[in-house]
Amino acid sequence: MKSLKAIILAGGPGTRLRPLTCTRPKLLMPIANRALLDWTFERLSWAGVSEVVLAVNYMAESLRRYFGRERYGIKVKYSLEPKAMGTGGPIKLSQKLIKLEEDETLLIMNGDIWCDLEFSVLEAAHKRNVGRGAVTTITLYEVKDVSRFGVVELKPDGRIAAFHEKPSGKVKSRLINAGIYASTSQIFSYIEPRRTSMELEVFPRLASENRLYGFQHKGEWGDVGKFEDYLKVNFKVAEALAGEKPRIEGSAEYNSTVKLVPPVILGDGVRLGSGSRIGPNAILGRNVKVGENCQISNSVVFDGVEMEDGCLVKGSILGEEVFVGREAKITGGSVVGDLSIIAPKVKISRKVYVCPRKEVNKPALGPKRIV
Ligand code: GDD
Ligand code: MG
Repeated sequence: MKSLKAIILAGGPGTRLRPLTCTRPKLLMPIANRALLDWTFERLSWAGVSEVVLAVNYMAESLRRYFGRERYGIKVKYSLEPKAMGTGGPIKLSQKLIKLEEDETLLIMNGDIWCDLEFSVLEAAHKRNVGRGAVTTITLYEVKDVSRFGVVELKPDGRIAAFHEKPSGKVKSRLINAGIYASTSQIFSYIEPRRTSMELEVFPRLASENRLYGFQHKGEWGDVGKFEDYLKVNFKVAEALAGEKPRIEGSAEYNSTVKLVPPVILGDGVRLGSGSRIGPNAILGRNVKVGENCQISNSVVFDGVEMEDGCLVKGSILGEEVFVGREAKITGGSVVGDLSIIAPKVKISRKVYVCPRKEVNKPALGPKRIV
């Protein structure tokens, strides 16, 4: 198989996912019990990608430790910026780590995307566009609310006539930039070696020169940059993986009084107490221990969490090794950072974000942060 190379933007601070990104980079956030970037690497390996440059900045060391020099048979290199350089600068900086033949396709992507795109299909579409003068082909996805994304005006021939990043006014198009690009090496000559924005500087210029094309992806796609979207992506993947049966990864311990309402994923070593109700949309990491008569739904629970009897967790996220005391309730989009303790009977609801290693002894109604 011919080989492909890729650059992945992996350096954003993940501010909107704090407190979970206080202790891990966004790209290591678990999606159905597996790091986001592992999903991407696996798909890249299917497309014959042999080499990836991770353009790192925030928590670069964690990524380097996790991925090492090779992952899924793909050679991994790291390009570390001295300071944050936006979405363009890191691509330019990565150029020196990547050797490309004149007609070779380069994949470039935002690392915080989960999707089921076949990269080889994007590559083939891009090759056709190159014949018509394309430098870059952007993967597009149709959404209802385009305001948080880059929006494109697409011509019937596949050319992108205009690119608007996070438009504030009304735009007609519903096609957004999905953050995955196939490109010729010419792209590097469009990027300045400084803090640069692909979306505000490079793409509008390519569009004005008729050198930007679009390729619409119609499968699953999600940016995990916000908690609502992060949960949505997890539940989509859980549904696809687990469907109507609970997915048990390794061994789990529970008796027949436990009710599992699909989709449910139980990581290896999970233990569930009698009378508990897990699901729908519950993803429990490795070695999670749940007491008796607990309820967990529409939530993601990271590895090593421990919950005493009678707890309720609804529409929320618990970071690694969180401890939840007896009859505590965590609901309404609340997020508890790694290693925090929620005292017995305490209720936290409506977007309460608890920093890592905190002890919460009083009820809290959000939106608020407990720091
Ligand atoms: N190395 C490095 N350095 N990476 C960075 C930096 C930086 O300074 N800033 C951001 N990144 C990485 C992030 O980690 C992420 O993987 C990617 O670049 C995009 O940054 P986000 O901050 O997540 O951007 P966004 O989600 O608001 O918007 C982008 O993605 C949308 C699709 O999800 C844009 O490309 C939009 O046009 C697009 O629609
Ligand atoms: Mg993003």
